[in-house]
Amino acid sequence: MEHTILIVDDDIPSLKAMKKALVSEGHRILGATNGKDALEQIRHETIHLLLTDLRMPEIGGMKLVEIARKRNPDLSIVVITGFGSIESAVEAMKRGVDDYLTKPINITELRILVSNALKKQDLEIENRELRQELTVKYGFPEIIGHSVKMHQVTELVSRIAPTSATVLITGESGTGKELIARAIHKNSPRRDKTLLALNCSALSNTLIESELFGYERGAFTGAQEMRKGKFEICEGGTLFLDEIGELDSSTQVKLLRILEEKEFMRVGGTRMIKVDVRLVAATNRDLEKAVSEGEFRKDLYYRLKVVEIKTPSLRERREDIPLLVEAFIKEFNKKYNRKIQGISPEAVNILLELDYPGNIRELKNLIESTVILSREERIGPLDLPVPTKERRGGNEEDINIHIGMTMEDVEREVIRQTLVKVEGNRTKAAAILKIGLRTLQRKIKSLLPDLLF
Ligand SMILES: Nc1ncnc2c1ncn2[C@@H]1O[C@H](COP(=O)(O)OP(=O)(O)OP(=O)(O)O)[C@@H](O)[C@H]1O
Ligand SMILES: [Mg+2]
Repeated sequence: MEHTILIVDDDIPSLKAMKKALVSEGHRILGATNGKDALEQIRHETIHLLLTDLRMPEIGGMKLVEIARKRNPDLSIVVITGFGSIESAVEAMKRGVDDYLTKPINITELRILVSNALKKQDLEIENRELRQELTVKYGFPEIIGHSVKMHQVTELVSRIAPTSATVLITGESGTGKELIARAIHKNSPRRDKTLLALNCSALSNTLIESELFGYERGAFTGAQEMRKGKFEICEGGTLFLDEIGELDSSTQVKLLRILEEKEFMRVGGTRMIKVDVRLVAATNRDLEKAVSEGEFRKDLYYRLKVVEIKTPSLRERREDIPLLVEAFIKEFNKKYNRKIQGISPEAVNILLELDYPGNIRELKNLIESTVILSREERIGPLDLPVPTKERRGGNEEDINIHIGMTMEDVEREVIRQTLVKVEGNRTKAAAILKIGLRTLQRKIKSLLPDLLF
């Protein structure tokens, strides 16, 4: 199948060079030198792959990617970034870009990347119907951990899940409170009924009340229709109230009533409505302290913590780090179509030493960035985006020169690394190397014939 590729770059020589490199592969190539022109073409043409520079005046590459992706979810997108702006590559990958290239661009790498992205897209389109049939609804990732602390948690979850007991989950941010709440629902007899979540800190308290209990028509200005709240919609299921410590006193009273009497009134209503909903609440606040300071009702606190599950911080269960890392690598390999085989013991050692104020979420984000950035099969210490002792000793500007290399090898390496540092800018590279621009160009031609620009 012939594919149409749109290349967007405000630098005309590099646009031409990329066009040339890809047209010889049998693709139909369109070009644009600015975001506006690119958008125009996206609107009128069927495009399979968008190859765009991120740094452009007016409509930047990221904006273009966003609009193009909305118009065509199947579109393959590859972005080009400078070596110095690797964070923008990570950001782009997180926003659904398929891959990225760093300047200076190498022809072989460009071709392989484009061909892989197109292959992946063809496969995805072909298999879509098949997949739709086979799709197992995305549940939640397993609760990972073999430490004693995590065993205690999972053991408790398996014991209380089958009951309808109210559960209070407490723990620092990113320790898996929501994950546990979902696990409780999924392993309960309510699993086929609704699980709803409400974050109590995200809304004002008046809004929370109408979200939770619904309202009658005319209850307040704008209430033109009766609306059911989460408790009613959740009938027979589980309601997860996140950051419960943020509720104000009037909502606390209403919640207490539901827990005690299993009934409530819609806002503006006069009739009691019976419900059967299991409540799971979570907080990273110290509720006991909030109670002693008069900010949280004592009776509600005791009603909520019929069962309390404390999720341990990652610092308390460092032995789980290797297992978590392995699972996250797998997860992100899949998500970003990477083939990372594992991680070196030295790199694991670095991960074992970190503090993780953001707990598992922090470790997970770190692995996500590493999987996106690593070009190696195995993650090594240098691939980790963390300032480590090992790393501080080394230098990003080091060049790998060793005995056994010829002068020509050395020259090639110095030129290549300098070009990487200046994002392919020949004039800057020549100045650093203190040679003439022409000399540099001649050397590139003979030593690095594969370099595009
Ligand atoms: N034991 C675990 N195994 C695998 N993944 C986990 C585990 N615990 C947490 N995670 C992952 O870490 C991330 C954060 O977890 P979650 O959102 O459940 O934390 P939280 O305690 O609710 O955080 P916050 O207080 O900030 O809301 C999620 O992506 C979750 O899947
Ligand atoms: Mg949470």
